[in-house]
Amino acid sequence: MCGIVGYIGEKKAAPILLDGLSKLEYRGYDSAGIATIENGELSIEKCKGRLQNLCDKIQNGEALQGKIGIGHTRWATHGAPSDLNSHPHKCSQSLFTVVHNGIIENYLPLKEELTVHKHVPFVSETDTEVIAHLLSYYYNGNVLETIQRVINAVEGSFALGILCRDTPNTLYAVKKDSPLIVGKGNGENFIASDIPALLNYTKDFYLVDDGDIVMLKKDSLFFFDRKLHPLKKEPFVVDWDYSQAEKGGYAHFMLKEIHEQQKAVNDTVSERIGEEDIVFEDFHYGEDELKALHSIRIVACGSAYHVGVIGKYVIEKLARIPVEVDVASEFRYKNPILQKDVMYIMISQSGETADSLAAMREIRKQGYKVLAVVNVLGSSIAREADSVIYTHAGPEIAVATTKAFSAQLAVMDMLALKIAHVKETITKDAYKEALMTLRNIPARIETVVSNADKVKKLASRLKNVGSVFFIGRDIDYAVCLEGSLKLKEISYIHSEAYAAGELKHGTISLIEEGVVVVAIVTQPHVREKVISNIKEVKTRGAFVFAVANEGDEEIRDIVDFVYYIPKTNPVYTPSLSVLPLQVFAYCVAKEKGCDIDKPRNLAKSVTVE
Ligand code: F6R
Repeated sequence: MCGIVGYIGEKKAAPILLDGLSKLEYRGYDSAGIATIENGELSIEKCKGRLQNLCDKIQNGEALQGKIGIGHTRWATHGAPSDLNSHPHKCSQSLFTVVHNGIIENYLPLKEELTVHKHVPFVSETDTEVIAHLLSYYYNGNVLETIQRVINAVEGSFALGILCRDTPNTLYAVKKDSPLIVGKGNGENFIASDIPALLNYTKDFYLVDDGDIVMLKKDSLFFFDRKLHPLKKEPFVVDWDYSQAEKGGYAHFMLKEIHEQQKAVNDTVSERIGEEDIVFEDFHYGEDELKALHSIRIVACGSAYHVGVIGKYVIEKLARIPVEVDVASEFRYKNPILQKDVMYIMISQSGETADSLAAMREIRKQGYKVLAVVNVLGSSIAREADSVIYTHAGPEIAVATTKAFSAQLAVMDMLALKIAHVKETITKDAYKEALMTLRNIPARIETVVSNADKVKKLASRLKNVGSVFFIGRDIDYAVCLEGSLKLKEISYIHSEAYAAGELKHGTISLIEEGVVVVAIVTQPHVREKVISNIKEVKTRGAFVFAVANEGDEEIRDIVDFVYYIPKTNPVYTPSLSVLPLQVFAYCVAKEKGCDIDKPRNLAKSVTVE
């Protein structure tokens, strides 16, 4: 969702802001804009559509003077995508200019109040414009005090970059519940929504906590808390460079990330799985506590929720304790009943998903601790959780998750095994064998991904279908949820996932000549049942694409196309069976000419609810 960049230094700000914004495109946006100040003159340029439109309009930034500026990519919430609604927004006297990520919930009453006090006209439909007017309304000559007053008046979430024409050598920033980081350079300093935006300029970063106000000058940085008390912050150094967030010869980030899954899973498991045990660094659960667990509750959104559903099968099979999985947006508003001796787990790639963050806060507010499975270092969920297991998937740029998903699955597998071992629900030998299997998963992932090209032909044949159903039983059904989401989000083909046994209870009425059914058949104990379900849809004219275990030759005669995955312990097949589904979605979207890395209406980091 919206991306923010800010610069102050010795160089021309506009090209740096545009470059930073280009690295945030993956977040999803529909318009872009920048503002700079030069010799007391404010310049704002913004337009609807791709960042390239803005770059063309201002000659890649060369047309805009000034060594201080703020930039923004907007993902519309209040008001349609348009030039007027694009950020930056300014007050009527052009004194304050702001870029904003988040939602100001009380913007309407504030707007009314400002209108009464003649802080008009409002030129956009956005909630953000209210902030610019409010800054000017409260301004007492001291920008920090003014910002403090504004953040006390607004409700909702915000990361703000602020320029004040009275202080042209200072950039300001503040955040609450929306991501913001500060980059420290040599004679220049930066703000951004995410680290990749600034990796071309610095490796030294500061995390900004909720309520912190930041004052940036070209040679110095000052942090204050909500009461304007100075804060001492330690920087951290990022050990990856932008090349890791570049396409590296692949046509799309999604394809690159599909191919990085072996590494992502390997980096996530290899340091943690020893000969005898699984060790997590920041894991505050003693053996007695794990033994006493009577259930587990997992909360997440989207694909991370699907990891939770797969995790439920794995944990219940191995550790024999019940697992409940909740969608975070539901969980947070249902006054959840929480209990002791339950492990609460949040799963999130970005660590910034607004609903997941709010759900986690609800759990912690009720006095229970939370274990977070997160990819982005230092993200809000990682910082607020009591324990964190990082997935080491590296930067994930494509909106549709692939490698972070696989790394999250690996964490669920390790966690299930660890609990099973402590609870003695599996034998020592089975435990050791499972450790070995998990260590070998990355190599098997590589085998599947390197053969996945076979799916390409199928994709070109199926690109024009209107509807695809994914069916499977047991843990295969959980994988179907993800396969279906991948396909619909990037190829815009309607698709649904069904527990194969449920088809007969209504959905089978939709099966007719030409409908595509993707069937996953990897679980031996329900194999015959799924085969019956496949026959039922075949009889009604469906085209069936199956994902099955190597050696299952019978399937070949029943379906239209089969993709074989290496045989492994059935509990761990999701790490393999999801791969052809990712590649299938990718190839179909490519055949259709869709914007694969930035699908319409979607954002990488869903920082508003
Ligand atoms: C789908 C996808 C989303 C995310 C969801 C949660 O490909 O990526 O469904 O899984 O928005 O995001 P995180 O994991 O960042 O909390």
